[in-house]
Amino acid sequence: MLREPFYDPKKSYEENYARGPFGAFAETEKFQNRGPSSQGPDEASEPKYDFLGNKVYLPFGIPAGPLLNARFVKAALDMRFDIATYKTVRTQEYPCHPHPNVVAVDFEGNLSVEKAAGGLTSKENYDEPLSITNSFGVPSTDPEIWQKDLADAVKYAGTGQVVVGSFQGTKKGDGNVEGFVSDFVLAARLVKETGAKILEVNFSCPNEGTAHLLCFDIPMVRRVSEAIKNEIGDTPLVIKIAYYEDQKALKKLVQDVGNIVDGISAINTIGSAVRTKSGEQALPGEGRLVSGVCGEAIKWAGLEMTERLAKLREELGMKFAIVGVGGVSSVEDFKKYRAAGADAVMSATGAMWNPLLARGIKKEL
Ligand SMILES: Cc1cc2nc3c(=O)[nH]c(=O)nc-3n(C[C@H](O)[C@H](O)[C@H](O)COP(=O)(O)O)c2cc1C
Repeated sequence: MLREPFYDPKKSYEENYARGPFGAFAETEKFQNRGPSSQGPDEASEPKYDFLGNKVYLPFGIPAGPLLNARFVKAALDMRFDIATYKTVRTQEYPCHPHPNVVAVDFEGNLSVEKAAGGLTSKENYDEPLSITNSFGVPSTDPEIWQKDLADAVKYAGTGQVVVGSFQGTKKGDGNVEGFVSDFVLAARLVKETGAKILEVNFSCPNEGTAHLLCFDIPMVRRVSEAIKNEIGDTPLVIKIAYYEDQKALKKLVQDVGNIVDGISAINTIGSAVRTKSGEQALPGEGRLVSGVCGEAIKWAGLEMTERLAKLREELGMKFAIVGVGGVSSVEDFKKYRAAGADAVMSATGAMWNPLLARGIKKEL
């Protein structure tokens, strides 16, 4: 059942940031009485799952994106999403793409890469099975602002919960690769300074107008990952990647970075050109015809990647954690991802339209 989303796509990003979250996330006290370190009734015992060295009640949460700031993260924690990821930040203030940033897409079934290449049509209503497209361009406040806010969110996590800090580097447009790598390292340092216990680097943002996602440039993934690990030491580092069609390339990625990083999160969105029924670009502006599709349509891809990563991990005798993402909206989806080999499971679209999802999964498990 779809509920009022905690991020309201009809409002601008700025308004969501200033006034959100909405719906049940704005009234968490109605659903439970719970301070940051107390336990809810279904969590009377010790948390038994381990996620990258942190005990969690359930290895389930919200990935980078819909939790725009500490108010959103706190609401997610209150609603028992035990792993809450703060939206990807940068080392400098960065604007958001113009409104709208989210629209529903008219599609049922599995969105293969071939089908995505053929383009999609947007629609007015959000209904099930829900798939959307999103394009924000990874906006960021200045570190002066997000560092304090993220530190506040990190502290709020109660027993059996953890906050993940997501970040990425920014290209300066001068082709200076060294500078780009250093910006990732600086971002990692700034996030670590907030006290975040797990860091996630976004190598798969589809909305920046780059034809090739960074995650497909394996030597670069390795170089940046090594540089970040040199900076942050024992703090766990997760890399966020997109769907890989090419198994050889995925194997190479795992071989090259699987022992450097602590976790691999897959997948981000699948890019597709989205137009309205009348043929106009659904999300207006240069470089925004193609945007990132997520929700039900990409579940097959998140599950498949989880399985393939789990097989490669076993074959190569590695230990990295797998974070399964894509189209999770029910307890069955959670179980499928766990069975496929995910150490943790995350939901963005599903959670946005069902803020009670984590509570529901805990009840039904
Ligand atoms: C509103 C929204 C914003 C997002 N922003 C980010 C982001 O800043 N960084 C990131 O790594 N992924 C971002 N994503 C991608 C999600 O983390 C996730 O990988 C993707 O949506 C697939 O999961 P889903 O099918 O559960 O939505 C965003 C997704 C949504 C829906």
